[in-house]
Amino acid sequence: MRIEVANVERGECVAFSVDGVSCTAYSGETIVAALVNSGHVHRPNLFCNMGVCGDCTVQVTWPDGTVRRVRACLTPVIAGIAVRRIGNL
Ligand code: FES
Repeated sequence: MRIEVANVERGECVAFSVDGVSCTAYSGETIVAALVNSGHVHRPNLFCNMGVCGDCTVQVTWPDGTVRRVRACLTPVIAGIAVRRIGNL
């Protein structure tokens, strides 16, 4: 049986930081996906990956200067955010 993989369209490449280290991600990618794809997280210890458990909570400084804790499995990366890992990631 052959499995066809559909073409995947990625968003633009955006820069952000994780614990002070610069990296890039595709716009619209979740923070968890960006952390895994950039090698900052080798084996995510995620429990639900759907916004219920809070295991993926990170602190994000947004481009406007506000700081909030968010669930990385639900929050898309945008250019200029600064992510600080505070939990299980
Ligand atoms: S992994 Fe459970 S809320 Fe993100």
